[in-house]
Amino acid sequence: MQLLDGNLCAEQIRQEITQKVDAIKASGQRAPHLAAVLVGNDGASENYVAFKVKDCAQVGFESTTIRLPDTVTEDELLAKVAELNADDGIDGFIVQLPLPKHIDENKIILAIDAKKDVDGFSPVSVGKLNLGLPTFISATPNGIMELLARYKIETEGKHCVVLGRSNIVGTPMAVLMSRNTNPGNATVTIAHSRTKNLKELCLSADILIVAIGKTEFVTADMVKQGAVVIDVGQTRVPDTTKKNGFRNVGDVDFDNVKEKCSYITYVTGGVGPMTRASLLQNTLKAHQAR
Ligand code: GUN
Repeated sequence: MQLLDGNLCAEQIRQEITQKVDAIKASGQRAPHLAAVLVGNDGASENYVAFKVKDCAQVGFESTTIRLPDTVTEDELLAKVAELNADDGIDGFIVQLPLPKHIDENKIILAIDAKKDVDGFSPVSVGKLNLGLPTFISATPNGIMELLARYKIETEGKHCVVLGRSNIVGTPMAVLMSRNTNPGNATVTIAHSRTKNLKELCLSADILIVAIGKTEFVTADMVKQGAVVIDVGQTRVPDTTKKNGFRNVGDVDFDNVKEKCSYITYVTGGVGPMTRASLLQNTLKAHQAR
């Protein structure tokens, strides 16, 4: 079994981006600038945005965090999105999800200018991805493709089972793995909560990508010997032995599943850092396109 080291690959990507940013600055242009809108005080979202800001600093990007209270109205948030769309000093921005219940997330995503949609969530970005056109690709699936590429994992003709059908991960992941690219060219099945014979299906997977949001859902009896297993799940579980009071648990029962895998990611240091690196790649792309 080999661990797919997302920290290592993400660091390589950050170094590549840093070199490009140095060249941009040397040519007299301003650095790429990412803005993040953070609504409320959700601990996980705060953490994610703090990491994004730190990543920007490391590669020489500018970053701006816009904090809004969880009482913000939908109209106020839409006004902020319009302001960011029009701001020439910002190349791309994200609105950190989830949003409070009284705000329609789709309405917010629809309002983001596709040219600045570095999350790749807008209908234009998703449509272009489906058509195989250049676009911003959602960071988590893009990061997984980078990980597979950098470890030279063979995907052509393989059966890839994607557990989960979210707009952000499962669905774009399935599109990317089925495209005529390398990595890609896999035969893809999307499985979800209503899928019958899930265990048998998973056992037929050469590559199993798990984004189902249920802790330790995939157990060793569901995994074929030699499979590649990618765990997207990351759930905070209370743990009084930890300084911060919680630990992160993935969607895969790592300790038992790892024995059967050729390659596997761990809940930390796997997909997460690759997602963050992909956001930096998208922000650089947004800057270059302007
Ligand atoms: N919440 C969890 N993951 C993401 C992400 O990639 N982008 C945004 N905007 N919100 C998220």
